[in-house]
Amino acid sequence: MDTDSLRWDEIHKKIPPDLERHSQYAEKREVLFPRESKICDMAGGLGYDAMYFIGKGHNVIILDISDYALKGAVNSAKASKISKKLAVKKCDFGTGKIPLKDGSVDVVFSRIGFNYFPYKETRLLLAEAYRILKTDGKAFIAFKSPEDVEDYKFLKTNAVELERNVFVEGEQIRSRFTKEQLQQMMEEIGIVDYSVEQFLEERDTIRDEFMKANKNILYLNEVRFKKI
Ligand SMILES: C[S@@+](CC[C@H](N)C(=O)[O-])C[C@H]1O[C@@H](n2cnc3c(N)ncnc32)[C@H](O)[C@@H]1O
Repeated sequence: MDTDSLRWDEIHKKIPPDLERHSQYAEKREVLFPRESKICDMAGGLGYDAMYFIGKGHNVIILDISDYALKGAVNSAKASKISKKLAVKKCDFGTGKIPLKDGSVDVVFSRIGFNYFPYKETRLLLAEAYRILKTDGKAFIAFKSPEDVEDYKFLKTNAVELERNVFVEGEQIRSRFTKEQLQQMMEEIGIVDYSVEQFLEERDTIRDEFMKANKNILYLNEVRFKKI
């Protein structure tokens, strides 16, 4: 946990503060949340999407491995006088456990937070996301996709493929699961009310690591499900 945590601290430190803003994915999905939801933002990083959700009247708990990012999120909330609506908790999703009680949130949201684990661990994490949802609660989870040809080619050429579409680049695991693989996970978990669709996010900031590939579109595969 400590090595991963420190590595992510360093990545977050490189994000220029003037580019702090929420994602298009967050904006497009927030309208589908029940009003005044309790949201778990899994791997919510510096909290840009969380601040946006709070601004819309929701309460958010951010789970993330990076102390630096969580501290940044808390400081932003304090500066905007909305700290009562934000909670943060450090955790490592690599353990396959989410430190929240069964049925405790209305919405699970995650943008590019599930791309750092092999197939079985990712499936465990999705099952955990289902567990923490209240009945009728909804999950919106966006994964980086193998349909981004340049990115996929980069990983195929420069990283070691540990298992199908799971790569190790330096010390970091990076998955690029197909829609079919994500559907298979849902079936294996036994989640029935789900969909897996492509979501294309137009790039207008350099708020994440992908800008260095100089692309205009971020290719995401979105897993959505509802707790029944
Ligand atoms: C690409 S960033 C996405 C951040 C944010 N959701 C966004 O859309 O900008 C990935 C996030 O996953 C977190 N993360 C990476 N590995 C993790 C792990 N094993 N457990 C929990 N969080 C992790 C990182 O600290 C980082 O905040």
